[in-house]
Amino acid sequence: LNLPINQKQLTLSLAPMEGVADANLRNLISSVGGYDYCVTEFIRISSTVFPDHKFITQCPELLENCATPTKTPVHVQLLGSDPHLMALNAFKAQNLGAKVIDVNFGCPAKTVNNSNGGACLLKDPNILHDVCKSIRDTLPNHVRLSAKMRLGFHDKSLCLENAAALKSAGVDWITVHARTKDEGYKPPAHWEYIAQIKQHTKLPIVANGDIWSVDDYIRCRDITGCSSFMLGRGAVRVPDLALQIKAYDEQKSYVNKDWQQMLVLINQYCDLLQTESRVKYQTGRLKQWFNFLKHAYRPADDLFDQLKRLNDLHQMRALINSTS
Ligand SMILES: Cc1cc2nc3c(=O)[nH]c(=O)nc-3n(C[C@H](O)[C@H](O)[C@H](O)COP(=O)(O)O)c2cc1C
Repeated sequence: LNLPINQKQLTLSLAPMEGVADANLRNLISSVGGYDYCVTEFIRISSTVFPDHKFITQCPELLENCATPTKTPVHVQLLGSDPHLMALNAFKAQNLGAKVIDVNFGCPAKTVNNSNGGACLLKDPNILHDVCKSIRDTLPNHVRLSAKMRLGFHDKSLCLENAAALKSAGVDWITVHARTKDEGYKPPAHWEYIAQIKQHTKLPIVANGDIWSVDDYIRCRDITGCSSFMLGRGAVRVPDLALQIKAYDEQKSYVNKDWQQMLVLINQYCDLLQTESRVKYQTGRLKQWFNFLKHAYRPADDLFDQLKRLNDLHQMRALINSTS
């Protein structure tokens, strides 16, 4: 059976980002190109087997062969600690068309950790094992299972044990966000631990954390020895980051998207937002994206203060297009 990632060819994925990378943003960023797959925002499993519509809301791509409109596969991420309940929900997701289930062992949010989900599970490798084993035993063989972990909760002492526990549970690969929960999102990401995990587990490993540029990719690749990488905030800030990295890897020339090309993309995003009924969502998400873009594009930075005071998508769009 083919894995969506392999140890020889460069594979790039769009990270799950709750409250940011919803289906609209996955649609937009995957349409730019360079991404081999995306992962949904986490679906939190705490006490029930969700009805179909919950999965479809979080992952509308399930209705389209579990891929974005430009045919980039989408993996469904679950978060929780009850092995049986996680397995039942994973089974439901695959019944609806999910081809890959990813399990979140990295979320640092207090509400999530207090209800025994996400990064707090990294304190006990047995839980990681039991959750993934239960899901693996329940899923049909052709459905892939991956896990996404941080290096630990307070410290990194259990990172190899946690990875080994996931391997023995039968996951196909592990994505490692190279920080502990306590380290939050503070730079630097500790890529050297990914190299250790890769050596010890002998599983395919997806390296994640702080890849903002082609140079970061090169350093991360050299330190980790990985050929698969997950891009999060960098992909939102620089939507053609995956294309830049792939062009570098294939030794092809590539000219980074300039502001005129970004305007095309921004208008495409506005079209997507306009299909949503909630005005607050429309304007909120556009402001949120500009909050990322302003770090990479001068015109976005110049506009941001004006933009954030507007509460109408059409006005925002007109202002943005006035920079063309
Ligand atoms: C706003 C935000 C939301 C996130 N939500 C999720 C999530 O739902 N599931 C998950 O596994 N990781 C989540 N993460 C972590 C990212 O997937 C990724 O591991 C992290 O941002 C490091 O990668 P980066 O430095 O490329 O952004 C989130 C990160 C951010 C910034």
